[in-house]
Amino acid sequence: MDSILKGKTVVVTGAVRGIGLAIAELCAQKGANIAIPYVFVDPAPALEKLRAMGVKAEAYECNVADFNKTKEVCDKIIADFGAVDALVNNAGITADKLILRMTEEDFDKVIAVNLKGAFNMTKHLTQNFMRNRGGAIVNISSVVGLMGNAGQANYSASKAGLIGLTKTVARELSSRGVTCNAVAPGFIATAMTDALTPEQQDAIKKQIPLGFIGNPDDVAKAVVFFLENRYVTGEVIKVDGGMYI
Ligand SMILES: NC(=O)c1ccc[n+]([C@@H]2O[C@H](COP(=O)([O-])OP(=O)(O)OC[C@H]3O[C@@H](n4cnc5c(N)ncnc54)[C@H](O)[C@@H]3O)[C@@H](O)[C@H]2O)c1
Repeated sequence: MDSILKGKTVVVTGAVRGIGLAIAELCAQKGANIAIPYVFVDPAPALEKLRAMGVKAEAYECNVADFNKTKEVCDKIIADFGAVDALVNNAGITADKLILRMTEEDFDKVIAVNLKGAFNMTKHLTQNFMRNRGGAIVNISSVVGLMGNAGQANYSASKAGLIGLTKTVARELSSRGVTCNAVAPGFIATAMTDALTPEQQDAIKKQIPLGFIGNPDDVAKAVVFFLENRYVTGEVIKVDGGMYI
């Protein structure tokens, strides 16, 4: 049976590598066309991979923290693809420091990308979803948004904020057939975790009941569950090997 994602357009912010790219690849495998707002990373290898799967894929240089630029890019994506059926707010950054040393700039920049970025994208695509009488939004939060983490006051606040945003958007848009959910990953193997020493990785594994670090595909499967299910909204799924039970 074909996925309901076949022939649909999914916007995945920051999907040029890591978890975002795994989400885009799984959606493409199910026949979805992919639009990627991104910064910093060369999008060419990701686009090549996605296009080789037989779908349309385009990247748009866009800082998600910029309200006006995200409006311009959302309008361009709608013009290029016809309409948007789903949005995954995946773009995120860290600037870790204990609160004693954390600067105002460290706090503001993480909130601006992780939380306001999701607000910007959601706001600029809401009319499109209302016109389409349906749609699905998934926000990539984190278990540290649920449990806190020393050294991540800015990041955990942004990820907790995403859960409030998720539940409110779910309530506001449900009468229009739009769902909004969140995925809260624990430790996932990306470029970031590859940089850890074997000793650091062992210390992390000790905090995970299942005993191993997850991979981006584990997160992508939870995202696609939400994108394919029209009857789940306002929900948060942890993908963390049991780290926060
Ligand atoms: N890796 C983990 O263990 C883990 C755990 C929990 C949550 N997450 C979350 O998952 C998401 C993806 O993380 P990842 O590990 O793949 O990281 P990553 O750094 O590999 O990917 C982040 C992506 O976001 C993009 N990005 C960053 N700032 C941006 C901006 N201002 N505008 C547009 N794009 C921007 C980057 O270009 C990059 O492609 C993030 O929201 C992260 O907080 C990751």
